[in-house]
Amino acid sequence: MPSLPRIIVLVSTAHLLLGCTSGASNVDCKQVTVPKYAEMTAWAKCTSCHSTALTGAGRVGAPGDINFDNYDSAVADADLARSEVESGSMPPAGSPKLSSAEHDQIVNWASCDTPQ
Ligand code: HEC
Repeated sequence: MPSLPRIIVLVSTAHLLLGCTSGASNVDCKQVTVPKYAEMTAWAKCTSCHSTALTGAGRVGAPGDINFDNYDSAVADADLARSEVESGSMPPAGSPKLSSAEHDQIVNWASCDTPQ
């Protein structure tokens, strides 16, 4: 019979393998509501800086290649968006905060196959 520490290692390894493949948060995609990109209100709190329509000072320092105003750009940075939102780094201090529903939109969308 395996020792207790060995069982703990096995259980936590299984947990890692079964969990969400792409990141920190363990979102059970069968249990949560996963919004489509087009129906997400959360992006409005990102696109005041992260929009392909903005250049120069209008971007308020947001990196030129990180945009959320169109589906393909948002998908390209979905994992990064989720981690910034989960850590509370984005939106930055002084900008309108995400409601908890908007926070969940981004986390669930990014974690569960970024539906269009
Ligand atoms: C007021 C302008 C502003 C708003 C609003 C804003 N950002 Fe940013 N964002 C920035 C700036 C400036 C940076 C670069 C500096 C930094 O990473 O802190 C940045 C960087 C990022 C990065 C790159 C981080 C990295 O490590 O490379 C991501 C991803 C991001 N933002 C996502 C978001 C998301 C998602 C939202 C909306 C929930 C959002 N941002 C809202 C200004 C903004």
